[in-house]
Amino acid sequence: MSHTRFVLPKAAVCTALLLLVCPIPAVLYAQSAAAPATPPTTVLVAVDQRTTQQSLNGDWHYILDPYQNGLGSGRNGYPADEELPAGSNKLIEYSFAKSPTIKVPGDWNTQKESLMNYEGGFWYERHVQLQPLPGRRSFLHIGAANYRARVWINGKLQCIHEGGFTAFDCEVTNTVKSGDNSIVIFVDSTRIADGVPTLKTDWYNYGGLTRDVSLVTVPVSFIDDFDLHLDRATRSRIEGYVHVDGAQAGTQVSVELPDAKLRAEGVTDANGRVAISLPATGLTLWSPETPKLYHVVLKAGADTLTDEIGFRTIEVSGSRILLNGAPVTLHGVSIHAEAPFRTGRVNNDQDVDALLGWVKELGGNFMRLAHYPHDQRMTRAAVKLGILIWSEVPVYWAVEFDREDVFAKSQQQLHEEIRRDRDKASVILWSIANETPNNASRTAFLTRSAEFVHQEDATRLVTAALLVRGDVKTKVIDDPLGKALDVIGFNEYIGWYEGVPADSDATEWKISYDKPLIVSEFGGGAKAGLHGTIDQRWTEEYQADLYRHQIGMLNKIPQLRGSTPWVLMDFRSPVRELPGIQDGFNRKGLVSDQGKKKAAFFILQKAYKENNLGHAE
Ligand code: GCU
Repeated sequence: MSHTRFVLPKAAVCTALLLLVCPIPAVLYAQSAAAPATPPTTVLVAVDQRTTQQSLNGDWHYILDPYQNGLGSGRNGYPADEELPAGSNKLIEYSFAKSPTIKVPGDWNTQKESLMNYEGGFWYERHVQLQPLPGRRSFLHIGAANYRARVWINGKLQCIHEGGFTAFDCEVTNTVKSGDNSIVIFVDSTRIADGVPTLKTDWYNYGGLTRDVSLVTVPVSFIDDFDLHLDRATRSRIEGYVHVDGAQAGTQVSVELPDAKLRAEGVTDANGRVAISLPATGLTLWSPETPKLYHVVLKAGADTLTDEIGFRTIEVSGSRILLNGAPVTLHGVSIHAEAPFRTGRVNNDQDVDALLGWVKELGGNFMRLAHYPHDQRMTRAAVKLGILIWSEVPVYWAVEFDREDVFAKSQQQLHEEIRRDRDKASVILWSIANETPNNASRTAFLTRSAEFVHQEDATRLVTAALLVRGDVKTKVIDDPLGKALDVIGFNEYIGWYEGVPADSDATEWKISYDKPLIVSEFGGGAKAGLHGTIDQRWTEEYQADLYRHQIGMLNKIPQLRGSTPWVLMDFRSPVRELPGIQDGFNRKGLVSDQGKKKAAFFILQKAYKENNLGHAE
């Protein structure tokens, strides 16, 4: 027998030693990866219209946890939310009560200088007094948690969610109790390769509970989803369905538009669903010019849900986009959910009013919410103001297209986005991606996404922001993904990333599709207040000149139906570090982050006011 000594592999030695010295960390790391199974989250439609909700916005205690230490148990089991009883000698190595607080909603980065560049695990905790009533169910509503979240109520894991820009609701009926309740939420903003978005983005990875959080109570069977839309064919009927969660078959349902004296009734089938169809006679159709909303009352058993809904149709006919059957030109701008003046994630009405006020001032009737679903306040305000919307999921740049689990993540985000904003007449386009590489696995992935969106919502249009081929002389739009899209968006940066602004005067466009086109991005950077000659980069004059040339070029594209130049307002980005100019901001805004309008703002405003960018037909 050779005397070969049996050598333990290094890792095993460490773990064994670790287990010997202190068992818990080893278990921790093992545990941190694989989260236990929990009931799926859902999205309660028109939840913001429910009156039976208790806001949980405000100050929450927080504990930073880059090592996911709190996912352990006992002395490091943060979900237990234990406080040391007076006189006790028990070993507990955390205390939310003694920990600082932070505002919800809000990204953590812009609230504390020490947190500005923090990405990682972050614990939120607060207590709430509740009186759960018999015959009622309770849901914790989270407007958005970037990027992954786990929710505990009274120490019990309730739900887990991935995706930083879509709302989710998790049922907590069986865990809430009368009196004091502990809510603990672990949010991890770590960027991951198999995430949506993936590792690199040209926007700041703001972490946290970035949108409203509330507790919603509903009857045992309640309306969790509905769709009411104007039928495209005749525009003379409202069609759709109502779904009642927890309903017996045969449950009475009614839909009423009191102002229009319209009412429909029906009973649920075995799946809690009832089809709705009622005449739309005499309705004022929703449009940017007439953003008419109807008060809608939906009743099912003991549940009543109301909403403010506009009725309109949107479709494509050849290379035209038809709104309520008439060709439309989309005068828009791209927008990030960056709060004006204070920066950080948009999360209140002032932020929304400032951004949409500038869209209106531009003479805009359209906006591209880039590159992820924005706060519901944006889509609600837009439906009141008459601003059409391109909404997008963050399938951005080099997502891992050859992975089925990544496809599932993008599908979940599309589902959550559509479910939340299906009732918003302002939203006309679902964008499935931005600037993705033209290869087979990507095209297959996104073709499936387009099909999925058409299944989820046959009343709206599917688009994506495509890259274009060629040089400043000849630009070619022939990306195979175009086949799967109703409307083709394209991004080009002639005069900034390639050539000089005047080059676009001679650019020839070769377009393989007889479909409506939207220029989803063009533009260049300028530091507000920096002035010089038109050929000096970063000056307002250079940016304004670039816009003049772009408008001239784009107007030569016959099927250009819309434009959303990049970008309404300067926004924070970790890849923009030119001192004295960018300082951590992408400076392609028409307005600075401090609200200063640049010269190009007025060039675009003039083009829109004179209806001189794009053609309805
Ligand atoms: C890209 C991208 C944007 C980015 C912009 C830019 O096209 O879609 O997210 O911010 O260009 O480079 O400024």
